[in-house]
Amino acid sequence: TLITGGQVVSPQGAAPADVLVDGETVSAVLAPGTASALGIQADRTIDASGKYVLPGGIDVHTHMDMPFGGTFSVDDFETGTRAAAWGGTTTIVDFPVQKKGGSLQEAVDLWHAKAEGKACIDYGFHAILADVNDMSLKEMDALVDQGVTSFKLFMAYPDVFLSTDDQIIQAMYRASDNGATIMMHAENGAAIDQIVTRAINAGHTEPKWHGLTRPIALEAEAVNRAAQMADVTGAPLYFVHLSSGAAVDVVTAARDAGRNVFGETCPQYLFLDESDLARPDFEGAKYVCTPALRPAEEQAKLWRGLRTNDLSVVATDHCPFCFATGKQLGKDDFRAIPNGIPGVEHRMDLLHMGVTKGEISLARWVEISAATPARMFGMYPKKGVIAPGSDADIVVYDPAATQTISAQTHHMNVDYSVYEGWEFTGKVETVLSRGEIVLHDGEFSGSPGRGQFVKRSLSQYLI
Ligand code: URP
Ligand code: ZN
Ligand code: ZN
Ligand code: ZN
Repeated sequence: TLITGGQVVSPQGAAPADVLVDGETVSAVLAPGTASALGIQADRTIDASGKYVLPGGIDVHTHMDMPFGGTFSVDDFETGTRAAAWGGTTTIVDFPVQKKGGSLQEAVDLWHAKAEGKACIDYGFHAILADVNDMSLKEMDALVDQGVTSFKLFMAYPDVFLSTDDQIIQAMYRASDNGATIMMHAENGAAIDQIVTRAINAGHTEPKWHGLTRPIALEAEAVNRAAQMADVTGAPLYFVHLSSGAAVDVVTAARDAGRNVFGETCPQYLFLDESDLARPDFEGAKYVCTPALRPAEEQAKLWRGLRTNDLSVVATDHCPFCFATGKQLGKDDFRAIPNGIPGVEHRMDLLHMGVTKGEISLARWVEISAATPARMFGMYPKKGVIAPGSDADIVVYDPAATQTISAQTHHMNVDYSVYEGWEFTGKVETVLSRGEIVLHDGEFSGSPGRGQFVKRSLSQYLI
């Protein structure tokens, strides 16, 4: 396959080039028009004139088929990875969940079973450590050898996921020894639970109270506490879903001190705000995620963090629950609204809007959505770059095409969109996953089961 006439975009910028794909990998990146002079005959040519040619998006934070709050997120590995491909994402990294009292290995094995035969694109796993004990600490070493090289801990959600400081520091020491990355959901869950109880006792049950009971200060406090423990232990630390300027400031200070501390944010924090939680008729429940949506003024601080590399990655935290069913569990009590927002399909388009609005450069778009995620989680240069030998995970993106997002037409298995009616300039035209065209011109041609597990190495992004 020869992709001709496009602008190949990388963290170094955009340059006209033709891309030659042989089987599952890229075989050459050529000066425009040189393929015929070199005697190269392609079976198939994709005309990318006027389009961007991007490394396939890598979404390192998804929750497919995840048990939460008495229900399950409604995209499984088939519907979720298909929707990802529609949006130009060719690799996801999902989170097997350890049960309290259960083993980590058991969780990873279960996730392999969920993904195998279903995934349409490649996938890796981080493991959620919900029960740090002697057994799970030992299991971390074995999982690193299996290519699960990152572990998510929670300072939020007491009784469900929360690890106490003694557990956190043990996991960090273990990661410091075996080279794994600790991922942190940083919010002071114990303090938040008390604020929530006060709100409920005062009779506040509507979705907006989800936001009002989770102050930014208790995100920043947890980020600081975790960053200090990472410094003491020497563990690399990656903060998931940062939502506020105050949290980013703590990360900035740690990075300025030369520490292996990294931040991720998500499209919902860049584009939505707390007023969405106050929508009438329980519609606010559609916007309940954790951390909560913030005042609109936080958005500019997050964009700034993305420009300065104090935030290194944008991932979706895709965790969909239907409005008509799952979200209704919290109709009379915001505590029972399953947390999460659907978004795996629209990350590339939303970030492209950041490019057209001048928030980030074209090169930075590719860096935060593909190149850095690949390096951060040990998949580079197999993933995240268009270069000889890399997997041919390639997106042809038309920056001039327009589209309107709607639950009527999206491909996620969920009955609403938080971006309903939003109009975009820019659209995915063609997607190759390991050399196979899985999407072209509005037609999906991938198949469940073709996606492969990516055995990851340690993070390649220290400092
Ligand atoms: O609201 C969210 N983020 N749900 C998924 C679980 C998590 O904390 O990432
Ligand atoms: Zn989280
Ligand atoms: Zn998450
Ligand atoms: Zn989440």
